Amino acid sequence: MSEKKTNKEELLQTPKGMRDIIGEDYYNFQGFFEKAQEISEYYGFKPIQTPILEHEEIFTKGVGGGTDIVDKEIYSLKTKGGDKLAMRPEGTAPVMRAYIEHGMQNKPQPVKLYYYGPTFRHDKPQKGRYREFYQFGLEVLGSPKSIMDAMVIHMGILMLKEAGIEKVSLKINSIGDAESRKDYLKELVNYYKKHLSKMNATDRQRLKENPLRILDSKDPNLAQINAEAPQSVSYLNSASKKHFKEVMENLNELGVDYELDHTLVRGLDYYTHTVFEFFTETESSVDDIESKDGEEVVAVTKKLALGGGGRYDYLSKSMGHKKEVPGVGLGLGVDRIVEASKNIPRPRVNKKAKVYFIQLGTEAKMKSLKVIEILRQNKIPVRQSLSKDSLGSQLAIAEKSGIPVTLIFGQKEALENSIIVRDMSNRSQTTVDIDKLAKYLKNL
Ligand code: HAM
Repeated sequence: MSEKKTNKEELLQTPKGMRDIIGEDYYNFQGFFEKAQEISEYYGFKPIQTPILEHEEIFTKGVGGGTDIVDKEIYSLKTKGGDKLAMRPEGTAPVMRAYIEHGMQNKPQPVKLYYYGPTFRHDKPQKGRYREFYQFGLEVLGSPKSIMDAMVIHMGILMLKEAGIEKVSLKINSIGDAESRKDYLKELVNYYKKHLSKMNATDRQRLKENPLRILDSKDPNLAQINAEAPQSVSYLNSASKKHFKEVMENLNELGVDYELDHTLVRGLDYYTHTVFEFFTETESSVDDIESKDGEEVVAVTKKLALGGGGRYDYLSKSMGHKKEVPGVGLGLGVDRIVEASKNIPRPRVNKKAKVYFIQLGTEAKMKSLKVIEILRQNKIPVRQSLSKDSLGSQLAIAEKSGIPVTLIFGQKEALENSIIVRDMSNRSQTTVDIDKLAKYLKNL
């Protein structure tokens, strides 16, 4: 590919589909992460951080060729040493790579891991869809048990609800084990072959490479055909049926509502048995432009998922490992959660200020940092504007901020090692020794 030059305007902007996360947004991302991490730790999950770059084959083999993520959206690069690396487009294949690399199969099973970080897909940027986005993920590796599927789904719902998403809806399906999937795919291919004339070029290609993906097609011409397509649940063998029934029984026991959606197959190749996605009623939908036979362009509206996941019992083998490692997990889209929620918990570091500190005169300014440090050591959150000099401008900020107490540190106070404590609700003032300040403020 020929090299594209960055023009002057582009130079001082983030690359398309990527953004800076600043201020309140940053706190919201961090607040979500802390909440999700807290829930994960309660359920016995441990943290893992894998590199952003992996060998590209981790994804081509793991996630699979014929998927959008690998065929169209992967950011890959060749290193100076000649390695073909890719920026992670998802977190499950890297976690499986880490499990195998570190011999985690020798630990008590299952190994339960959580992770959080940037993920990269060269997708079409629009609201809720970025080229760099944040995922929080859970993976349970080394157990085929249906209770693990239910636990992961349950935890996903808890994370969304406690992040301020009131109405979480869950769609669920089963694509069964390898045997069931083989029978089902045969039927599905036969079915779509009868409708070839109505299919666009992309879907025809999918029929050859990855027929399951047609069920996920955005082409409105296919909506009816897809609705009448054979359903994977009808082709489940008895073991797969039992597994899915148990997952649903567990969800019923937990009082989790779900909708069975037979067109839900998900955009990654590694799934077996249970697949699921989370939605909310308030999240935005996007207009997707799908090219039809290379000419006509159709706009379709699609609801964005806040998260999704499923079981992936054959992933380890498709990545070249000798043994099967049954696993189940989920990935939550943190950017979309932050956009959909109005009530993300505050992160621990972002404490509400208790006092506003004002200094007046050279002597006081010089001693200010010492006073502020006393407050920090006593865990009293403080705000200040040390760069300002006048009482008027500092008081104006204090008034506007709504912080209940103002500390006024003038020339006289600096010399006497005291400070004026002003109650902003009734404007009463008391002079307090600096040595006794922390204790005084704590008793307020
Ligand atoms: P996924 O469905 O591809 O699954 O992604 C999970 C979530 O990431 C999506 O539901 C969505 O909220 C968010 N997401 C995906 N693409 C974008 C984007 N371009 N911009 C913003 N958010 C996005 C996985 O990645 C699997 N690894 C999940 C999993 C874990 N399955 C088993 N274990």
